[in-house]
Amino acid sequence: MNAMSTDTLRTEVAIIGAGPAGLLLSHLLAAQGVESVVLETRTRDYVAARIRAGILEQSSVDLLTEAGLGERLAREGDQHRGIYLQFPHERHHLDFVDLIGRSVWVYGQTEVTADLVAARDADDQQFFYSISDTALHDVDTDRPYVTFTDAEGAPRRVEAVAVAGCDGSFGPSRGAIPGGSTWEKTYPYAWFGILADVAPSTDELIYAWHPNGFALHSMRSESVSRLYLQVEPGTDPASWSDDQIWDELATRLGHGQDGWTLTPGPVTDKSVLPMRSYVHAPMQHGRLFLAGDAAHIVPPTGAKGLNLAIADVALLAPALTDLVRKKDARLADAYSQTALRRVWRCTHFSWWMTTMLHRSGDPFDEQLQLSQLRWVTSSEAGATGLAENYAGMPFA
Ligand code: APR
Ligand code: PHB
Repeated sequence: MNAMSTDTLRTEVAIIGAGPAGLLLSHLLAAQGVESVVLETRTRDYVAARIRAGILEQSSVDLLTEAGLGERLAREGDQHRGIYLQFPHERHHLDFVDLIGRSVWVYGQTEVTADLVAARDADDQQFFYSISDTALHDVDTDRPYVTFTDAEGAPRRVEAVAVAGCDGSFGPSRGAIPGGSTWEKTYPYAWFGILADVAPSTDELIYAWHPNGFALHSMRSESVSRLYLQVEPGTDPASWSDDQIWDELATRLGHGQDGWTLTPGPVTDKSVLPMRSYVHAPMQHGRLFLAGDAAHIVPPTGAKGLNLAIADVALLAPALTDLVRKKDARLADAYSQTALRRVWRCTHFSWWMTTMLHRSGDPFDEQLQLSQLRWVTSSEAGATGLAENYAGMPFA
């Protein structure tokens, strides 16, 4: 072969992106005997170390466990009955187990990804990491293919029965769907997130409304805490000293109220996240199917991003299995319409939690937020609605 020829390989599903969506899809397909190749621009180490939200819905835990990925999750994950919702002088526990009989798990997305990478490696999954120039071709035919440049600089081509666009919000897959609609909302605030080497000061997550802005106390383990502050978009993480961060967290989370204290500790990571809602429809075109952030983004307030990616894949894996194995396209044809129902439910819930809890600067909004918080924390109907959305509806 001369230096300019393209190395071509054939598989059943070409998966673009090795985030949770792409990795889980390759895993579920492999369990059904469907072969895939996973293509990723980043390095393996980068993919495995990214820090992201860490709440799993009951259905996500069930699916990961059924897929053989639940061993470390069961050992190291932390099952939570609910959350605390807080506004000045009041902290209320919403017990999802009492309200709807379902719970949530604290288990970092970094851990989910690491477990998936380990499982795929053990299964000899074919990966191409550190690729560039990813391009999709002929997705409206039954012989779609993806071209790219591999880590050594060689041109490559992967031919498949179907292509799964699991390439996140900046990948090329969404752009390969002609027409379609997008709905988008950018929120006028951002989250300043820290990781800290200190035991969490709370048994369950605290979502706090405060006149200075929203704060969240989350956690990663018995010795690592994850906390967030609402800040202006574009805030430079280096512009806040560690002391300033802990002081503001203490104020917003209610340090000293009813004997509760926030214990500060060494900050090991600081980052600022933008807040955006985005939905693209349809989530498919011909033999191209989008899953996860490639099709939708939610602000992190409802902790839905990872769960929604898992829910998409829970639909897409059987749909592609039927398509590849039985040439039965019924589930595949219905994929986008079925997936979008949950996408919009989670998009609404994430928007609702976000607008209920963040300072907008408008005094009228503030009174509405407080009224809404009082209702959600005092009415069983209000609390049940939040619980059902937060803990998530069953995937089926
Ligand atoms: N070619 C190959 N891979 C690509 C390309 C490309 N051109 N562009 C992007 N990618 C890769 C990214 O490097 C990333 O690893 O696609 C992957 C997409 O992964 P994620 O962004 O993690 O998206 P997804 O798998 O859908 O997971 C959704 O991530 O953002 C969070 O809150 C969100 O928890 C949710 C989860
Ligand atoms: C997190 O732990 O990172 C986290 C938890 C809950 C959220 C968002 C992020 O709503």
